[in-house]
Parts: sequence; structure tokens; C-alpha cells
Amino acid sequence: MSLSAHEVNHLKHAPEVEGVLPVFFHRWSPRSFADRAVSPATLAKCFEAARWAASSFNEQPWRFFLGTRGSATYKKIFESLGEFNQVWAASAPVLILGVARTKFSHNDAPNRVALYDLGAAASYMTLQATALGLATHQMAGVDLDKARKLLEIPEEYIIGAAIALGYQGEPTALTNEQMHKQEITPRQRKPLDEIVLSAWGEPAKLS
Ligand SMILES: Cc1cc2nc3c(=O)[nH]c(=O)nc-3n(C[C@H](O)[C@H](O)[C@H](O)COP(=O)(O)O)c2cc1C
Repeated sequence: MSLSAHEVNHLKHAPEVEGVLPVFFHRWSPRSFADRAVSPATLAKCFEAARWAASSFNEQPWRFFLGTRGSATYKKIFESLGEFNQVWAASAPVLILGVARTKFSHNDAPNRVALYDLGAAASYMTLQATALGLATHQMAGVDLDKARKLLEIPEEYIIGAAIALGYQGEPTALTNEQMHKQEITPRQRKPLDEIVLSAWGEPAKLS
């Protein structure tokens, strides 16, 4: 089966729930990106959203390496990706790598929620990107040693995830069968009664 980018985008949208911001239902993670650059002004809007995420002690432990196609940073992030991710992420015009400082600035004590804060900021970025008509795909599949070496990431920073960002491409561009299949399959989530609890094993009452 072959579907267009437009058809797939429709199929990936989750059913809307009244009162919930549509952007949450519209974000999804494609592996095919269009051959279209993203302007610096548009990228700045995505990072602006990330900047305003909450963080423990307002530490803002996140730092983002930004690589646009053709840049040395792009090459370094791409080289740090796992093999599976390299297969598809090469089509993305922008690659980002998020890292977080694991010590608080005010007292040098360990910040156990540094990755949590980075994840929140990355989440804001992906949602802002969606609102701007962009697509994002986060990746845990990163060779951490390679990334640390190539990007000269200091010891006290933990590496989070890489993010491919760009405009959604045609699913048919994916020649890998598994990737193409996933690209055209509707998204699924656990039901609320499995993830919201009043006690362990007991769903919270939400209606
Ligand atoms: C932290 C994180 C790491 C991920 N790592 C990878 C990865 O290495 N490779 C990949 O193809 N997808 C990766 N994904 C994408 C997930 O598989 C995807 O978000 C999930 O299946 C839900 O689909 P959706 O984002 O379209 O809703 C990752 C997502 C997150 C949030």
C-alpha cells in the first residue's frame, strides 16, 4: 500500500478530544523528510519554546547542538547516530542533539532530574515545531562515546536524544520495508486507566 504524505499525516493524527490543544494530537514522528531547508527564524521559534520549559531550581540544564545540512555540526551529529537511524535521518535537513548538565550551578550538587528537564524542553520544541508545520523525530539510538568525542561534550553533561527536524516527506521515499510500514501505520497509545492511578494497580477515576 502506498499513501501520500498528506494521507499519512491525516492517518497519524490522533482523535481530537474537546478542550485538549490539537497540537498534541497532530505531532507524530516521520522518518521521511522533504528536501526543503528550515529557516533560522523558524528554528529560533522552536528553541524559544524549549527555552520556556520549567526546570528544577530553574537550572535550565539543557544545551542543544544545532546542525543544519552541510554544516560541520550536522555531520558530527549524523556520524554519532546509530546505524538504523542513519538510514532514514539522512533526509532530515536539521539534526539536533540535546545534552543536560548533571550538576546544579548554585551548589554543584547532583541534579537527578537533569534529563527530565531536558526531555520537557525537547517536548516543547517538538510541539512548537508541529504548530509551525514541521515534523520531528527523536532518537535514543546515538553512539554516546562518538557524540561526546566529536562534539567535545564535557563530562558533567549527560547526552539525551538526537532530534531530526524538517518538513514531512513522501512515505514512498523510504525504501526500507519496515520503516515504510511504520510510516503508514496509525499511532497507538495505552488507555488512560492504565497510566493514571489512584493506587498501584488501581485506575484513578476520571469520569
Ligand atoms: C526519547 C525517544 C527516543 C527515540 N528513539 C528512537 C530511535 O532511536 N529511532 C527511531 O526510529 N525512533 C525513535 N523514537 C521514536 C518513537 O519510536 C516514537 O516517538 C513512538 O513510536 C511514538 O510515535 P509518535 O512519536 O509518532 O507518536 C524515539 C522517541 C523518543 C521520545
